[in-house]
Formats: sequence, C-alpha cells, structure tokens
Amino acid sequence: MENKTQKRNGFASGIGFILAAAGSAIGLGNLWSFPYKTAKYGGAAFVFTYILSVLIIGVIVMVAELHIGRRSQANPVSAYKKVNKNVGWLGLFAVLIPFFIICYYSVLGGYTVKYAMNSFAGNAGILETFTGNAGEVIMYTAIFMILAILVVMAGVKGGIEKASKVLMPTLFFILVAVAVYSLFLGEGVSEGLNFYLNPDFSELGFDGILAAMSQAFFSLSLGMGIMVSYGSYAGKEIKVGQSISMICIFDTMVALLAGLAIFPAVYHYQAVSGATNVETGGLLLMFQTLPLVFEGMGTFGQILSFFFFAMVVIAALTSVISLLEVVTQLVIQKFHVQRKKAILVVAAICFAISIPIGISLGLVLNGDKSMLICGQNWLDFFDLVTNVVLMPLGALGACMVLGWMLDKPAKKSDMFNPMYLNETLKKDGLNLGWFGKVFAVMVKYVTPLLILVVEIFGVFDIIMPANSITGIRAFSSNGLGIVLTAYGLCVVAIAVYFMFFKKSETGNNADELLIEEKQVKAE
Ligand code: PHE
Repeated sequence: MENKTQKRNGFASGIGFILAAAGSAIGLGNLWSFPYKTAKYGGAAFVFTYILSVLIIGVIVMVAELHIGRRSQANPVSAYKKVNKNVGWLGLFAVLIPFFIICYYSVLGGYTVKYAMNSFAGNAGILETFTGNAGEVIMYTAIFMILAILVVMAGVKGGIEKASKVLMPTLFFILVAVAVYSLFLGEGVSEGLNFYLNPDFSELGFDGILAAMSQAFFSLSLGMGIMVSYGSYAGKEIKVGQSISMICIFDTMVALLAGLAIFPAVYHYQAVSGATNVETGGLLLMFQTLPLVFEGMGTFGQILSFFFFAMVVIAALTSVISLLEVVTQLVIQKFHVQRKKAILVVAAICFAISIPIGISLGLVLNGDKSMLICGQNWLDFFDLVTNVVLMPLGALGACMVLGWMLDKPAKKSDMFNPMYLNETLKKDGLNLGWFGKVFAVMVKYVTPLLILVVEIFGVFDIIMPANSITGIRAFSSNGLGIVLTAYGLCVVAIAVYFMFFKKSETGNNADELLIEEKQVKAE
C-alpha cells in the first residue's frame, strides 16, 4: 500500500460525495410526493413544518449516520459493530430496508423510463393499459435496474461519483427550466400557486405534522444505512457540517421547485381545457394528470414531457443506485466477492421480488383486487413496512448509538451530559464547531423522542386507520399484519446477526481493493 490516500476506496472529492448523497436524497420523494403532500396539508404551513423537521430531525440523524460510517470506513454492519458488538444488528437492519425498497422503487423507476421514452407517442391515458401489461412493466423495470447496475458496477469513484457529477446538475437544470416555463404559462398559474402554497394551518393538523416529519426521513434517505455507507466512502477530510447543509439545501430546493413546475401547469391545463377535478395527488398526479397536461400543450408538450420524465428517471436512478450500493457493499465485504458478482446477485434477487410487485400494482390500477397482501397492493405493502415502520427505527438506532454508546464515561453523571458527549465526539473526529453543543443535546434527547413519536403514531395509523369518509378510526387486522411483518423482520435481522455476523469478520472498505488485486493477480 504505497500510496494510501490515492488508493482509498471511496469518493475522490468532497463535492463528489455531496452530489452522490444529494443524488440519493433527491428522488421520487422530492419530485412527486413532496408537492402533493404540500398541497394536501396546507401549502406553506406544510413547507414550514417540513423545513423545521429537516432541521431538528433530518440534519441530526444525517450527521449521526454519516459519522458512524465515516469513522469506520466500512459497511453498516461493521460500522455499528465498531461502536459496540451488541448493536451490529442495527447495521444489518440498515441493509435490509434498502433491499426491500429497491424492489418496489425499481417498478416505479420502470414506469418513469416508459413515460420518458413514450413521450413523443403520447402518455395521456396509457396508465391502465401500460400497467396492466405485466410483460411490459417487467421489461421497463429491468431496463431501469440495468441502468443502475451499470453505474454501481463501475464502483464508487468511477461509477457513482462520476454519474452523480453529470446527472445531478442535469436534473437541476431541467427542473429550473420546466419550473420557469410553467410559471409563465399565464392563465391558471396563480390558482396553481395558490393551491400549492397558500398557507393554511387548519389544513395542516397533527396528520400533516407527522407527514412532514416522515417525509423528511424519506426524502433525505435516512434510517436505512445509506448515509452510513456513503459516509464510509467519504474521506476524513470532508467537512461534515458544510456537506450536510448543502445536501439538505439541495434536497429541499428541488422539492419546492418540483411543485412550482407541476401545479401551475396543472391549473393552466384545467383553465384552458375546461377539465375539472383532475387528480392532484398520489400516483395519478404523475402518471395520469401530467401526461394530460403535456398533451394539452401540443408538440412542445411532447418535448417538455420527455425532459420532465427524463429528469424523473435521473432522480429515481441516483436514488436506487444508493440503495443498491449499501447492499452490495455488505455482500462484497462480508463474503469477499468481487463487486461485479455481488451486484449481479443482489440485483437478481431484487428483480425477482419486483415482478410480483409490478404485477400487483398493475392489477390494482386496473381495478382488480385479487393480488393483495394485508389488504394492500404489494407496492404499498412494502412501502408501509419499510417507510412507516422500519425507517424511523433505523434512524432512532443511529441517534441512540451515537448519543449514548460511543464512550463509557468514568463518571456516571457524564453519561447524561451532552457537553461531555460533545467533547467525546470531537475526540472521535466529529468537529461541528458552535453547532456541536446543539447537536449533542439534540442527538441525545430531543431527536430520539421526536422519532419515537413518528414511529408510534405511524404504527397507530396503520393499525387504527381513519375511515376516508367519516374520519372515524377503527381497528384493522390487515394493518396489524403489516406492523407484525415489519417487526418480525426486525427480529429476524437481530437473530441472523447474533448467529452469523457477531463473531465473524464482516470486513471493511479496504477489503474491496484487496479482492480486486487478488483477482488481477489470478488472471
Ligand atoms: N430519498 C429518496 C427520495 O426522495 C428515496 C430514497 C429513500 C432513496 C431511501 C434512497 C433511500 O425519493
């Protein structure tokens, strides 16, 4: 190892790291769910709550995860093990969640590829026929996955970092252009803006606050090992505070801009075409309403549609890349296999699971409810299991580990003292300047409590859902099934960890270089 810095397995530059992490964060959550949730929960009131959630939960969890990864320079299992052998299972947990997300996110990614490629033929009204055609859905899911595989296969520096450096600015450029165009459409624009952003705190309510908090987790890719893994590829020299501020600012800006691109155009379309009651939420907003809007713009609309959906593909792609990387990293390091083999095995398994997910969603969109799990189509089932139940737990784990387990102070009272934690963190290489003290209080006490609230009410909402018409809550055995599946997965992850991972070597980032070197020699 003559030249260690050059040979380090990871991002080559600080900006490369920021763009890759922003690539993970910026995804369907920004371009699609943020805008419609904002419109639903009181416009600017929601935006305000969201930004607050990013500051008091998002930033804190991100720093925690990033530091846990960066200090270990290893996969999430090794990273948590390095803090304490008895919490290594949190790392396994942090790999399991992305594994399941890949399976359904790729189906949606496939939809976006189809819509981008089909822009010139016209996407208006194809939702049912396309989604109902299982073969086509599977094919587009495969195309989307192959794109992601190619990037991850080329490695962190040569694949993920390089791709992010090109794709993220492209995405931003398209988004700004579409938003500006949309804002100058004239008729309907102010109604659209009013619908999107008009602050209405009565619409926000407790549900809206919870939605804002959980949106912050999802949008920033927290609670699932991604920032642990990307952090492990970041050199000791990157400035944690600065990098995280940039990632959060980019992520929030893109989310806000997406609404500015979408709603003025939707309302403009309504005003000119006289159409009323177009869907402004959920899957239909992106895959049914927007194609109509583009169609209403004539030939230029086709070009716009192409760029818009290409942008969504980019956003989804850079997110799936990060999900794939986390799982691949563990497989490479734990089983000492080459990156190429690792990614192919991981992707093949995920692809197999994505098939029934794609079919089930297609059936439901065509009004056929014959393929449900716990009363949900497979996509929503996996989404609820991972995002509502498991993701907050992963984030809580990161805060607890960093806030309480990094060090065993000699004096018992120091255990509860955030200022002591701040000093410990500094010694450990996490220097946040003036923010350090605030961070220590937050990560030890405030943020974990807030996350617990998100978890408890999220689970409650699944088990006791409110009737969509009467608003009255009632017990749902299907909901209970979802929650039990999720917690069952936790138990399995813990058991597997203690049986197969705790005592054995789980590897680190340097191993990948050795594996590749060995391979070259063998050839
Ligand atoms: N943050 C991504 C989004 O906003 C989604 C994502 C979640 C990506 C989890 C990776 C991990 O869409």
